Amino acid sequence: CGIVGFNGSLDAKEILIRGLEKLEYRGYDSAGIALLNENGVTVFKDKGRIAHLREIVDDQVEGTIGIGHTRWATHGEPNQVNAHPHQSASGRFTIVHNGVIENYYLLQREYLKDVPMKSDTDTEVIVQLVELFVNEGLSTEEAFRKAISLLHGSYAIALLDKEDLDTIYVAKNRSPLLIGVGEGFNVVASDALAMLQVTNQFIEIHDEEIVLVHKDKVEISTLDGQKIERNPYTVELDASDAEKGTYPHYMLKEMDEQPGVVRKIIQQYTNDAGELIVDEAILTALKNADRLYIIAAGTSYHAGLVGKQYFEKLACIPVEVHISSEFGYNIPLLSEKPLFIFISQSGETADSRQVLVKVKKMGHPTLTITNVAGSTLSREADYTLLLHAGPEIAVASTKAYIAQLAVLAIAAYVTGKSKGNQIDFDLKTELAIAANAIQSIVDSKEELHKISKEYLETTRNAFFIGRNIDYYVSLEGALKLKEISYIQAEGFAGGELKHGTIALIEKGTPVFALVTQEPVALNIRGNVKEVVTRGANACVISMEGLDEHDDRLVIPKVHQLLTPMVSVVPLQFISYYAALDRGCDVDKPRNLAKSVTVE
Ligand code: G6P
Repeated sequence: CGIVGFNGSLDAKEILIRGLEKLEYRGYDSAGIALLNENGVTVFKDKGRIAHLREIVDDQVEGTIGIGHTRWATHGEPNQVNAHPHQSASGRFTIVHNGVIENYYLLQREYLKDVPMKSDTDTEVIVQLVELFVNEGLSTEEAFRKAISLLHGSYAIALLDKEDLDTIYVAKNRSPLLIGVGEGFNVVASDALAMLQVTNQFIEIHDEEIVLVHKDKVEISTLDGQKIERNPYTVELDASDAEKGTYPHYMLKEMDEQPGVVRKIIQQYTNDAGELIVDEAILTALKNADRLYIIAAGTSYHAGLVGKQYFEKLACIPVEVHISSEFGYNIPLLSEKPLFIFISQSGETADSRQVLVKVKKMGHPTLTITNVAGSTLSREADYTLLLHAGPEIAVASTKAYIAQLAVLAIAAYVTGKSKGNQIDFDLKTELAIAANAIQSIVDSKEELHKISKEYLETTRNAFFIGRNIDYYVSLEGALKLKEISYIQAEGFAGGELKHGTIALIEKGTPVFALVTQEPVALNIRGNVKEVVTRGANACVISMEGLDEHDDRLVIPKVHQLLTPMVSVVPLQFISYYAALDRGCDVDKPRNLAKSVTVE
């Protein structure tokens, strides 16, 4: 979910809606805004996208103060009633909330037995509590503080009081939230992107802080009332980077940007002497570790699997890669000197953050690899390596994956070099070669569209196989396809397929096989034969030098460790075209959100 708020002298409506459009990547099940003026508060909300919200908002209603929400449903199905904002029984208080209140039921039972609830959401409890405490005689601020102090869970909250035209009451715990400051107005947003339209000056809000956002000032305090002074920082982002321009979809734009992203990373991680570098403190942390624990979710997890190869082969450091939602609640035996590496495009994924909080408490050093400077995971880890990929908006991650691989390769290579390990290639040159190889694939879109039609036009499932590093790319290829086209897809280690899953191969089942690793090339070709014998429609994607005459696609030769950056690209495009041809919403697939800030 994403939240916004505006308090100033202009009409808040358009600013809120535009802000929500920029936050839609965080969820798009339903959306709503509340506008407050001397006549009271008006709420517009419904199931569906922001475009629909635009249609239902009455142009006549104005307000210089307002809040808004775009939802990725957790408690309560996505419908009009469960959409935010939510209101208290009398309608005096109105709230938007991102996060999950774990004890909402207990609170409801203890305090709100006699208050009929309108929705199935955990959020409504908060707004009802505020009203209850005000009815008991507290001021709105006191009631807000008291309600917030009772909450267990994650929240970014903005609340309006119908009787106060100058304050948005804000609170945060474990869900991202920023306050933007402007001349004569102040704003609230889950992500700076949402409010770059009006300001690039933002103040960080920390967990368990309360903020009163007035038109001309921002008052921050701890939950127990201690005042906090914190200066704004400038967000160095060009709002137009987050526009799709003439592209029909962000995903297409972001895939096209991939060669440029690799080149930019080379530049960002090169010193004046032309050598690849990472920050000294990070290098020391990497060298001091006896084991790296890579923690990530989704596509970032798949990048982590490749990263393990890099660190083990180049830096000679053992690595474990874990899915964040599993790791935090089942922490394995750790080595003596672990370094935790969090890979996250957004830097906000709650599953990863709960691990960060836990391992920090245990006293272990932490490094975040993220695309978003100033994101929660970046702020809270000891060190950060940035991806420099530019805003990634499409839910399906493409350029961030490529960037994660490039940055992981650089970190591992620089560590290995600095340890005096025998490394017989120049990574900078190899990355530049990979960038060119990616470009040649990006330039062969038409062919990739043909392949997509050939193999996926009517299928209901598909398999991706590979061995070794190609296996990790198969996992990513399958994830891309399933998340945007809804074709059931599985990535498999080539040799493992015969131990069960081959039972699913029927006449015509598409199997994409990657052949980029010389030591296992013959083995994976053997696996291809096994599925073809059983009727599969095999699409072999091989690398120059390992190709055979009936391979469907041959990708340019790159260094053996960098093949994932190149071989994933045709799989991204094939998925894109499959989704497009099936009429799916490529950038906003059903049930998903780009940044999942709840566990
Ligand atoms: C969501 C997105 C995925 C993404 C994952 C991790 O589930 O839909 O595309 O890979 O979160 O996101 P992160 O921002 O931590 O890389």
